[in-house]
Amino acid sequence: MTGDPARRAGGDGAVPLDKTPGRIAGMFDAIAHRYDGLNHVLSAGLDRRWRRQAVAAVGAPAGARVIDVCTGTADLAIAACGGDAPAGAVLGVDFAGAMLDVGLRKVRASGLGGRVRLVRGDACRLPCGPATMDAATIGFGIRNVVDPAQAVREIARVLKPGGRLAILEFGEPRLPLIRGAYLWYFRHVLPRVGRWLSRHAEAYAYLPASVHAFLGPDALAAVLRECGFGDVRVDRLALGIVYLYVARKPMSA
Ligand SMILES: C[S@@+](CC[C@H](N)C(=O)[O-])C[C@H]1O[C@@H](n2cnc3c(N)ncnc32)[C@H](O)[C@@H]1O
Repeated sequence: MTGDPARRAGGDGAVPLDKTPGRIAGMFDAIAHRYDGLNHVLSAGLDRRWRRQAVAAVGAPAGARVIDVCTGTADLAIAACGGDAPAGAVLGVDFAGAMLDVGLRKVRASGLGGRVRLVRGDACRLPCGPATMDAATIGFGIRNVVDPAQAVREIARVLKPGGRLAILEFGEPRLPLIRGAYLWYFRHVLPRVGRWLSRHAEAYAYLPASVHAFLGPDALAAVLRECGFGDVRVDRLALGIVYLYVARKPMSA
């Protein structure tokens, strides 16, 4: 199971994948002030496009109530307020307080203080009632959750029947040449640049290790179905560096 704290990376075998909430929250708190800049640099700016694609794919109507789980610095929550059908109210949930502090400053600077609320909470125990949300998003967060199926069940609980969930998560490209080049970048360049810019010894070694150890696209799609979602769609973005999962809570649920 990917959430096993004792599990180690398949790549270099040196990075402990301890996903206990305190450790994950502490790691993101430590890099919070540099997280956005590093995201944009390390993804060559593509992360913004991936988030816009997730918001479009979830297809919530204008004025919808949206929950953004593992919201971090709130980029996806803010993106949900834009596009063709801007959300009316977004609740961003994350357990890393420093990430939320950065997010809150951005929300206020974007003039979205009245529409985006950020709260500290756990993806496995969402702080809202059943069937209260029209749509849900989770960007690059599910891989870090100690029990991903429990988070998916929680999202199913808070979604209204017919509501959609969009998940963005990293993957590893399948085409051999691209895979080789990408894994070299991901395992050797990214951790070094990340360590240098974030001044955190582990966070950017944890990233490729946790991606390697996490559920592949078919397995995560199966989790979505097992947790009650239907119409599960998996789109490969950027040659499989990122996957976009979209699923719908059945009307009868
Ligand atoms: C890689 S960041 C992604 C942030 C943001 N969604 C984005 O698109 O950039 C992962 C976030 O998930 C949060 N996280 C991980 N596990 C969580 C959990 N069980 N409950 C709440 N937040 C969690 C971390 O604190 C971190 O802020």
